[in-house]
Amino acid sequence: MKELRTQVAIVGAGPAGLLLGQLLTREGVDNVIVEQRSRDYVEKRVRAGVIEDGIAKLLVSAGVGERMMREGLVHHGVEIRFDGASHRIALSELADGRSIMVYGQQEVVKDLVHLRVSEGSALFFESEVTLINGLTSDAANIEFKGPDGRVRITCDFVAGCDGTFGVANRAIPSSELCRVERTYPFSWLGILAQAPPATEELVYCRHERGFALYSLRSPTVSRLYLGVPPSSRLEDWSDDRIWSELNLRLATREKPEINQGPILERGITAMRSIVIAPMRFGRLFLAGDAAHIVPPTGAKGMNLALADVRELSRALVEKLKRNDDRPADAYSETCLERVWRAEEFSTYMTQMLHPSYEDDFENGIQRARLHQAVTSHEASTVLSRNYVDLNSL
Ligand code: DHB
Repeated sequence: MKELRTQVAIVGAGPAGLLLGQLLTREGVDNVIVEQRSRDYVEKRVRAGVIEDGIAKLLVSAGVGERMMREGLVHHGVEIRFDGASHRIALSELADGRSIMVYGQQEVVKDLVHLRVSEGSALFFESEVTLINGLTSDAANIEFKGPDGRVRITCDFVAGCDGTFGVANRAIPSSELCRVERTYPFSWLGILAQAPPATEELVYCRHERGFALYSLRSPTVSRLYLGVPPSSRLEDWSDDRIWSELNLRLATREKPEINQGPILERGITAMRSIVIAPMRFGRLFLAGDAAHIVPPTGAKGMNLALADVRELSRALVEKLKRNDDRPADAYSETCLERVWRAEEFSTYMTQMLHPSYEDDFENGIQRARLHQAVTSHEASTVLSRNYVDLNSL
């Protein structure tokens, strides 16, 4: 078996693992990233596309924001549609001038991978981690099997950035870990379409038939979602059925047809919340989906993950370069306070916008919440601040 030595072994090359690598490298902390999937797979994995103000600034300060600043779309407002009427929330006016950046998660991943590869830093694709060991001893180690055989990495710390079903959170003894979760009675069917967006700003829509979201990626590519029953399968949804349902839910009197075009990508995502605590066990630190999942309404998943590694890189730099344990010791508690804020906001957005097919009491509550969100200055201010910058408040 080949042997390597590094300061931080990072499991997972999604946005969290890649940004952590970049932040550590810039501080002179040696690190290795190991990813189970191929480069092509991680660069094509379509996810949400809304980046918070503070997280966009983090990417710029990490030296990876150049293309995002050139090609990303800055939005100052968002539309909420219910009972056939449109309401604009003036995000920037209500959130001290801050705005959101619309830029796909997979573009962030491509930019990070490109930078890492061009700098020649260690990044192993198609490499499955088979063992994480020594988390409470003098040195940790991980083993992986890659295209060139088996490798053991001895390290000071392991960063688990490999998602909910990855190996990192499973390396923590179950007696040391508390996991809470909630499932929701709907999924999202998402499509990417070669069609110019019909609106300039994102539209979150509550319709009796179900939730719909109109988003975009560029002046020629739209991203749209439908709330569907959790039992839905992609085979149940022909292109015609998808477009006609989107039209029924999203069309307005002024614009009775939404712009259609070839569907480039489609998928169904189940909706759930998970929080794993604590986010540290000895020499292992969890970040991003390895420690928590939020329902997608509000697009907090990647923002939360990148905010975790902003905290984690600080903690590891302090520990490794200045021998200061305090930020690492506070890591889990500091993150979890923010994680629960994101769970609360994502749950609030989810519950308010997905009508119930059975419970009209619930539907009445949803309408009252929506009405308050768009008419009360206080309620729309809270919504705006959470929407544009929850992870940097
Ligand atoms: C997108 C995804 C979301 O979950 C959301 O709340 C807003 C936008 C998107 O993919 O663009």
